[in-house]
Amino acid sequence: MAKTVKDLSLNGKKVLIRVDFNVPIKDGKITNDNRIVAALPTIKHVLAENGKVVLFSHLGRIKTEEDKIKNTLKPVAERLSQLLSKEVKFIPATRGEALESAITGMKEGEVLLVENTRFEKGETKNDPELGKYWASLGEVYINDAFGTAHRSHASNVGISEHLNSAPGFLLEKEIKFIGGTVSNPARPLVAILGGAKVSDKIGVIENLIEKADKILVGGGMMFTFMKALGKDIGKSLVEEDKVELAKELLKKADGKLVLPVDTVAAKEFKNDTDFKTVSVDNISGDEMGLDIGAETIKLFENELEGAKTVVWNGPMGVFEMENFAKGTIGVCEAIASLEGATTIIGGGDSAAAAMELGYADKFTHISTGGGASLEYLEGKVLPGIDCLK
Ligand code: 3PG
Repeated sequence: MAKTVKDLSLNGKKVLIRVDFNVPIKDGKITNDNRIVAALPTIKHVLAENGKVVLFSHLGRIKTEEDKIKNTLKPVAERLSQLLSKEVKFIPATRGEALESAITGMKEGEVLLVENTRFEKGETKNDPELGKYWASLGEVYINDAFGTAHRSHASNVGISEHLNSAPGFLLEKEIKFIGGTVSNPARPLVAILGGAKVSDKIGVIENLIEKADKILVGGGMMFTFMKALGKDIGKSLVEEDKVELAKELLKKADGKLVLPVDTVAAKEFKNDTDFKTVSVDNISGDEMGLDIGAETIKLFENELEGAKTVVWNGPMGVFEMENFAKGTIGVCEAIASLEGATTIIGGGDSAAAAMELGYADKFTHISTGGGASLEYLEGKVLPGIDCLK
């Protein structure tokens, strides 16, 4: 991408920045502020260049008036203010006189956060009037919302059509690492994919079969592949309608797909129950596999040796239950201890797991995208990036 934030003249300008502050909030408290922290470099840069920062973000999905009450960005303004150690003016409106005069009255070095963009019906439809209206409030536009880059909405694609625009530092970083994984990775490229369902990862597996040197598969989705191989998987999670597809993927992968050799099995889906590690050939009819086993962790460690690029997406087991978290922890540790490799976590649950386990600093990049990372890894063009070209 040619243009960057550093090419924009920001001095004295009203700089509209689309960020992704769609953060988890429980009882009015932000439970993970990673996305806010990740947007700070761009915001600080604009402030250092004497710009006036006007921030746009969505939060949650808005269907009813009640959703609006639950999804105000006010707590986000408070957290951002703490992180920046300066006032962040929150405007509880998405259009109108109060918003317009607040922006007109801004001085250089001030920060303002507009209320949740999804309070406007036209936002998710990329209503041209709305994009044009929001663009009219500023003089230059930066998109730093990677998490939303797979959406074509008024506050990302719409605004960009009317103003001189560039990607922010976070978006650039995501393009470099997540985009770089599928376009030009240092080899060998090893992908580790987990999570409950094959259906969520089909596009990623199909794209990476072409690009990666090895794909290590864990998580609930491994059992659909096991079933495709004709194994008895007991009561383990399976997507029956994806078994044929799993067979095709195994064939296409031509040995690139590496499946677990053992699993931690239990009779009930709960933490406080008896469990044991069994070979994937010995899962009994009344058991379900809830994690990868110790032999599989070793196997995956061996496969990771010498990798130059590693991308990880999806937990290896039911990691929110302590007894079935060892596989995810083991894989996280194995990737974190690799030397000389670019190590990337493709967002979502695996990002949360690495951060909770205290490994965040050991990875080259932890993506702030969920759906956006997956679509990027699928090789799709993301509208929020494409519109800046
Ligand atoms: C995300 O959390 O994946 C992004 O913020 C996009 O949210 P959405 O799936 O509601 O569009």
